[in-house]
Amino acid sequence: MTSPAVTAQRDESIAQVAVRMDKERVGCVVVVEDERPLGILTERDIVRFASSGADPASAPVGQWMTEGPDTVAATSEAGEAIVCLAERGYRHVPVVDDGRLVGVVSMRNLMPIAQVQPMHHPGEVEAPKGLAGVVVADTEIGDVRGQEGFYHYRQHDARELAERRSLEDVWHLLFFGALPDGGQRAAFVEAVEPLRTLPDAVRPLLPAIASIGETFVPLEALRSAVSLTSAALGFRPCLDVSAEQLRDDALRLCALLPTLIGALFRLRQGLEPVEPDPELSHAANYLWMVTGKVPEPEHARAIEQYLVSTVDHGFNVSTFTARVISSTGADLGASLVGAIGALSGPLHGGAPSRALDMLDAIGEPERAEAWIRNTVASGGRIMGFGHRVYKTEDPRSALLRELAERLGGDRAALARRVEQTIVDVLAELKPGRELHANVEFYAGVVMERCGLSPEMFTPTFAASRVIGWCANVMEQASDNRIIRPSARHVGPPPPQPVPWPDE
Ligand code: ACO
Repeated sequence: MTSPAVTAQRDESIAQVAVRMDKERVGCVVVVEDERPLGILTERDIVRFASSGADPASAPVGQWMTEGPDTVAATSEAGEAIVCLAERGYRHVPVVDDGRLVGVVSMRNLMPIAQVQPMHHPGEVEAPKGLAGVVVADTEIGDVRGQEGFYHYRQHDARELAERRSLEDVWHLLFFGALPDGGQRAAFVEAVEPLRTLPDAVRPLLPAIASIGETFVPLEALRSAVSLTSAALGFRPCLDVSAEQLRDDALRLCALLPTLIGALFRLRQGLEPVEPDPELSHAANYLWMVTGKVPEPEHARAIEQYLVSTVDHGFNVSTFTARVISSTGADLGASLVGAIGALSGPLHGGAPSRALDMLDAIGEPERAEAWIRNTVASGGRIMGFGHRVYKTEDPRSALLRELAERLGGDRAALARRVEQTIVDVLAELKPGRELHANVEFYAGVVMERCGLSPEMFTPTFAASRVIGWCANVMEQASDNRIIRPSARHVGPPPPQPVPWPDE
C-alpha cells in the first residue's frame, strides 16, 4: 500500500484537493475526520465534477466524494485486496487499522505481485475422477441400469434380444430404430452381405500389417487396417457428409470389420484369407473367415448370442471415445480407430484372455481362494470381475454363463466352480465394492469353446461393438456439439519466469 495516504477534509474545495493530487501524483484522496475515512475522492469523481460546470474554487469535496468507502484491514492478504478491487471495479481502497486510516492500496501497488489465477467459468462443474456417474449426453440407443442388472437396446431387453433374435436384426434395430419385419430382414441381409468383401485397394496391404511386430497383437493390426480402409473408401469428415452417407459408410465398416479381423489373423498364421460366404449369417461367416471351417450350428449360434449381447453398452470407454472423436467432425474411420484403441486396454475389452489365463493359473477349484487372496494382496486385479456401472450381477455374465454351460467343457466347469469363491473373497477383501463377474469372465470360455484362440477374443468383441460405435457416431453427428471438457491446473502457479537459454 501507499502510506501515509494523501488525505483531505470534507470542506476543502475541489480546486485545493486537485492541486494536491497532482503534486503528490496520486489518483485519489481519502477524506478523513479524526483519522477515520469518511469518503474517497478519485479521478473519476473529478471528471464527473468537471462535466457539471460547477466552480472548483467553491465546490466542497464532501459534496463530490463517495461516502462510506469500502476498506480493507491492514492485516488483510494482498489477494483479498485484489478481489475487492477486481470484483467492485475500484482502483483504490483505503486501508484501516482499528478503523483508522493507515494507507491506500491501489491497482498500481498490487500489479507487481499479481498472479494469473484460474478463472472460474460460470456453470463450470467439478466431475469425479474417471467421470463416474456423470451424464454427458442424451441417447436413444440404449441404457445400462447398474443397480438393477439390466440393459437394453432401444427399449428391448438386450438379453432377450440375444436369446430370440439374430445379429442382423439387432444391427437393423440400432441403425434404423426398429427390429425388422420379415421383408425388412431379407432386404437388410441382402444389402449388407456384399459389403463384407475386402476393397481391392486394401487387400494387398494386409500381409504387411499382419506381419509387423514380434508378437501379433490383432487389435493393433486391426486399427491400422481400419485406418487404411477408411482412406481407401474415401470417407470424408462426418461434418461434411449427409446422414445417409454416414450410415452407408457405417454399414460398410460394420460389414467389413469381421473380414479384416479374419484376414489379418490368418495371414499372420501363414494362411490365405478366406473369402466371405454369402450363404452364412454374419456370425457364422465370422467363424468361417477366422477358422476356415464352416462352424457347427451351436457354435455359430453361441457366438451370435455373444455378439448380440456386446453390441452396445451405454457410454463405455470405447463408445465415449468414438463420440468424442466424431464430435470434432472427423471421419468415421478416425472414430473407429480411436474406439479400437480404447477397447484394447486390459481394463476394458482386453480382459477375457487374461480371465482365461487366470483360470489356467488357478488350475483347481481348491486353489482359487488362495490365488485370489495373493493377487489382491499384491495389488493385482481379478480379470473379468467388477464393473463401473453394475453393482450387481452383470446380465451379460449371466447369459454367457448359460452359454458356457450349454457348450460344456472343463473350462466352463472350472469357471462355474470358482466364480462364487472369487465373489466371496472379493466381498471380504473389498467390502462394499460389489464386485461380481462381468461380461469378460465367461466370454473367453465361450469363445474358446467355439474355436477362437485367446488372441481373437478382443477382436471378436470389436466385431460386434463396431455396430454400437457406429450407431453412436451417427447419433452424435445428428445433434452435435464438440465434446470439450476442462481440467483443473494443479501445478505451481503461473506465470513462472521463462529463463533465457544459456549462452
Ligand atoms: N479385482 C480386485 N479389485 C477390484 C477389481 C477387481 N477386478 N475391480 C475393482 N476392484 C477394487 C479396486 O481395487 C478398488 O478398491 P479400493 O477402493 O480399495 O481402491 C475398488 O474395487 C473400486 O475400483 P475402481 O477401479 O475404482 O472401479 P472402477 O469402476 O473405476 O473400475 C473396472 C471398473 C475397471 C472394470 C474394474 O472393476 C477392473 O479393473 N476390473 C478388472 C478388469 C476387467 O474385468 N475389465 C473388463 C470390464 S467389462 C468391459 O469393459 C467390457
